[in-house]
Amino acid sequence: MEEKKDGFGSKIGFILAAAGSAVGLGNIWRFPYLAAKYGGGIFLLIYIILVVTFGFSLMVTEISLGRKTGSSVIGAYKNADRRFGFLGPVAALVPFIITPYYCVIGGWVLKYLFTFISGQAHLATDDGYFGGFIAEAGQSTVFFIIYATLTALIVIFGVEKGIENVSKILMPVLVALSLGIAIYVMTLPGAGAGIKYYLLPNFEGFTLSKFLKTIVAAMGQLFYSMSLAMGIMVTYGSYMRKQDSIEASTRQVSFFDTSIAIIAGLIIVPSVFIFSGGDSDALNAGPGLMFVTLPKVFDSMKGGHIAGGAFFVLVAFAALTSSVSLLETMVSIVTEKFGLKRTGSTIVCLIIVFVMGMLSVLGYSSWESVTIFGYQILDFFDFISNNVMMPIVALLTCVLIGYVVKPKYIEEETTLNGEEFKAKGLYEIMTRFVCPIFMIIILLTPLFVKL
Ligand code: PFF
Repeated sequence: MEEKKDGFGSKIGFILAAAGSAVGLGNIWRFPYLAAKYGGGIFLLIYIILVVTFGFSLMVTEISLGRKTGSSVIGAYKNADRRFGFLGPVAALVPFIITPYYCVIGGWVLKYLFTFISGQAHLATDDGYFGGFIAEAGQSTVFFIIYATLTALIVIFGVEKGIENVSKILMPVLVALSLGIAIYVMTLPGAGAGIKYYLLPNFEGFTLSKFLKTIVAAMGQLFYSMSLAMGIMVTYGSYMRKQDSIEASTRQVSFFDTSIAIIAGLIIVPSVFIFSGGDSDALNAGPGLMFVTLPKVFDSMKGGHIAGGAFFVLVAFAALTSSVSLLETMVSIVTEKFGLKRTGSTIVCLIIVFVMGMLSVLGYSSWESVTIFGYQILDFFDFISNNVMMPIVALLTCVLIGYVVKPKYIEEETTLNGEEFKAKGLYEIMTRFVCPIFMIIILLTPLFVKL
């Protein structure tokens, strides 16, 4: 990202970089399993409402904060108000928790990619294949290390320009291929029940506790998927040109990010119904869902091993553009704090990723019985970042903007290009009232219900 210090050369540069960071495993792997688990249509509806209200407001805030202060997340909060300076390091800590386990899942994707291109796709259709793979620490460690090292190499060589250019081609291919697979799945016999479950909210038997759990899960997913509340969008905002519209860019990035998630869900959720009858165990499969259902879809297709291979290449690519942005953030923090050179700090960060990632790998294998507050280690890292740290960052950011520097501070930045801030009313209400109240509910919920 060093070459970006002088800013994005074009409007599309910002959108691509932000979308490259946003679209990743969160959309293709995480969103569908949450949608399957939390009632399909209801989750989808709540998620979309949150994207256009919370997601929109938080992203506008972060990008504006970055562009206005011209600083990375560490300096941006301090620049806005000294007393909030501590928020920068808190936000910056989040990538240190996410990157390691993100690379573990990236390793799973690589494993499936190899399985498909080595002509062994049929093995992966077995229900025990995924479980067997993650239960064996040796194999998942190898793939995790390959994935993390690949991410680090891209960060060291700073082939960001290359990545951006490749994304321009591969992202549309990912959309086209996913749409094609989604259409294929939707026309398979038995898909109807899955499509209905996924698209139509069913409020029958929907209790308050289920409602709370669904909102908390959807909110965590929103932060994760839109790369919010961890300083990334602040930093990207600082590279954005003053003449570009923050409001329009935010809408485009969120639309793109949400569309990919919805399409991924259209592949995975109906597949659960086709291949596992939609029973609640299958719907609750969690992090393994994509790896268990997708191979079955590909196996049922003519030429499915090629479609499957292509699909996993694209997923790996989408994941890499995200993990590069995550590791890049870690590296810039270590460089800034400890005055190391780029390669040195990347190696330091890689070691941190190895050590913490191994905890996640072992948590699913040799240390399977170890749980923290009832979560397996990987799931605990996911929970603590998405459901605890990010809501705290979001809450305090809203307090800073809503009550300390006042929404005008952001509104001035959004109107610099001479356009009016169309969603100003919504923005103020969200930032001052709705968002803080929701963040408090989200932080308190886990104390009362097990998510
Ligand atoms: N938004 C990415 C995804 O949905 O996979 C994950 C992510 C990337 C989170 C970069 C945070 C980040 F800084």
